[in-house]
Amino acid sequence: MPNEFRIRRGLDADLAAVEEIQQGAPEAAHWQVNEYLQYEFYIAEVTFPKIEVVGFIAWREVTTGEWELLNLAVFPAFRRRGVASVLLMKLLQLQAGSAFLEVRESNQGARAFYALHGFHQVGLRRNYYSSPIENAIVLRFQK
Ligand SMILES: CC(C)(COP(=O)(O)OP(=O)(O)OC[C@H]1O[C@@H](n2cnc3c(N)ncnc32)[C@H](O)[C@@H]1OP(=O)(O)O)[C@@H](O)C(=O)NCCC(=O)NCCS
Repeated sequence: MPNEFRIRRGLDADLAAVEEIQQGAPEAAHWQVNEYLQYEFYIAEVTFPKIEVVGFIAWREVTTGEWELLNLAVFPAFRRRGVASVLLMKLLQLQAGSAFLEVRESNQGARAFYALHGFHQVGLRRNYYSSPIENAIVLRFQK
């Protein structure tokens, strides 16, 4: 299995792959993927044995110095190889201030991932999610 990947801005041509990754991540937010193009949007791709998009991240500025992570997901076969960590580093390197996100309360994997990267719980939104209804944990990273 390939271990090397690179990060670059996401393009229109990546949207079909991003849709597939999103479909493989029921815990994640589900956007119309073309909406990502209007925000900060980066993908991770492997180059061997073929060029393949394996993960993506999207965020937006909510107000000066406040950023909202809209989505982050990695294709299941490529998880636990550091792909999401490198994607998240892109946001944390590029932006100063606070980064916020919501995560499903039951999404223990993502919560462990964000805790590892220095995010802390700052709120809880009851019944925030639908299909299924679930609380959202609000996390914040302060740079
Ligand atoms: C959460 C997610 C993005 C992590 O992607 P990833 O590329 O596997 O993450 P990384 O390999 O960079 O993980 C780095 C570390 O985070 C922690 N971590 C990541 N996934 C974890 C999991 N499922 N359970 C526990 N810890 C986890 C581990 O400490 C891991 O290091 P290790 O593999 O050496 O133990 C991925 O599981 C995913 O796409 N999930 C579905 C979508 C989702 O829930 N997105 C978040 C929405 S807010």
